[in-house]
Amino acid sequence: MTATSPAFSSRLGFILAAAGSAVGLGNIWGFPTQATSNGGGAFVLVYLLMILVLAYPTLVAELTIGRLRQQNPVATMRTMSHQPLWRRTGVIAAVVALATLGFILAFYAIVAGWLLGYLFAAVFKIFGQYSVAEWFVSFSIERNLLMMALFMVMTVRVVRSGVKEGIERWSKRLMPLLFLLLIAMAIYVLTLPGAWQGLVMYVTPDFSQVTDPELVIRAMGQAFFSLSIGLCCMMTYGAYLSKDENLPKTAGWVAGVDSAVALLAGMLILPAMFAAQDMGVTIYSETGELLSADTLVFTVLPAMFDSMGPIGNWIAVAFFVFMVIAAITSSISMLEAPVNTIREELNIERATAARVLGIVITGIAATIIYNFETLFGLVITVTTVYMQPLMAIIFGFFLTWILRQHLLLKALQGGSPNIEKTWFWKLWPGYVKFVCPVLILLVIFV
Ligand code: PHE
Repeated sequence: MTATSPAFSSRLGFILAAAGSAVGLGNIWGFPTQATSNGGGAFVLVYLLMILVLAYPTLVAELTIGRLRQQNPVATMRTMSHQPLWRRTGVIAAVVALATLGFILAFYAIVAGWLLGYLFAAVFKIFGQYSVAEWFVSFSIERNLLMMALFMVMTVRVVRSGVKEGIERWSKRLMPLLFLLLIAMAIYVLTLPGAWQGLVMYVTPDFSQVTDPELVIRAMGQAFFSLSIGLCCMMTYGAYLSKDENLPKTAGWVAGVDSAVALLAGMLILPAMFAAQDMGVTIYSETGELLSADTLVFTVLPAMFDSMGPIGNWIAVAFFVFMVIAAITSSISMLEAPVNTIREELNIERATAARVLGIVITGIAATIIYNFETLFGLVITVTTVYMQPLMAIIFGFFLTWILRQHLLLKALQGGSPNIEKTWFWKLWPGYVKFVCPVLILLVIFV
């Protein structure tokens, strides 16, 4: 068995790459729109609570499993126990999680493809090519296929170059750019007339909705999706993390950056909606509800950019570049997990593994595009609402019930040699062992 050799070169590199995985369309598109339709500030509060009580503890668990053996997820799960039954179950769990990840990447690439389309449209508009721009925003099978495939090519190219040269290097370049664009755009939008109304709605909690089970399950799903949990992504990145790093603290950084970006994105998107309304764009449906996420990003905002005159096209370019960057730092983590697995398990070159998997996932995405009405929503619900929390329970189970506890302690001691004296060690293993699974199951089934 080969060890996973290419590791992140620094702690910052790891944090930026893992935060790059976490920060994505889930934060910038999913979070603000979920917040809008689920009681504004109430959703924000429940979401933050979910990050703290469920997503963060399970994130530490998944990273710990990864760093334990510093191998690919399948090899790692095979070594959680000596018993053949558990070894086999562990391998199956890893394979199921990786397969789920493949489907997530497929729908993610479709959405990212739409964003690329809108980006090209804005560029063509700058050059006065309105009919070409029109094609890029048409919801045609050809446009969807072409843009999705282009996004997959970009993802494969980064992953092909390896962990340090590809993932770490690009995360280090793109993440700071992402923050800058986000802050600049939020400040700009807040100066537009009408924007404050959106901000007020975003920060005012409607407490009557806090106990709504629908809101709670959505907030949990959003938290797990946002931290890329239960899919072997974080396990893979954990395997690349140096044994000298303090895991709970590093995971705290990742969760913190991710939540901060989600909160900031809310300060951009919701005020932008209300600013758009001020410019005459409709943002409520006939039944009086705020329009959904896709309508928001693909109708409301472009309409707003259009109504701003020539400068609107440049702002549109900045906005869609920003969205594509957020998407690609996530998609590379989605491809890396299976690439690393088949690279090690089947002894295949990284570049070949990346290409072959890229083609397979493009095929899955094309199937979804051809059967859009039936498959798109279904794939998203099954993978994110059910599979992610369920796999998080299974990984937590292996770490706290199957793995011998002195090994767990040893895995955490790297970077924090006195961890057994801390409250973290006193609380966390028992918490992941007993409380997390019960809470997750309660949220899903009650
Ligand atoms: N966390 C990413 C986002 O918020 C999506 C993601 C899910 C990335 C699963 C990796 C694995 O968009």
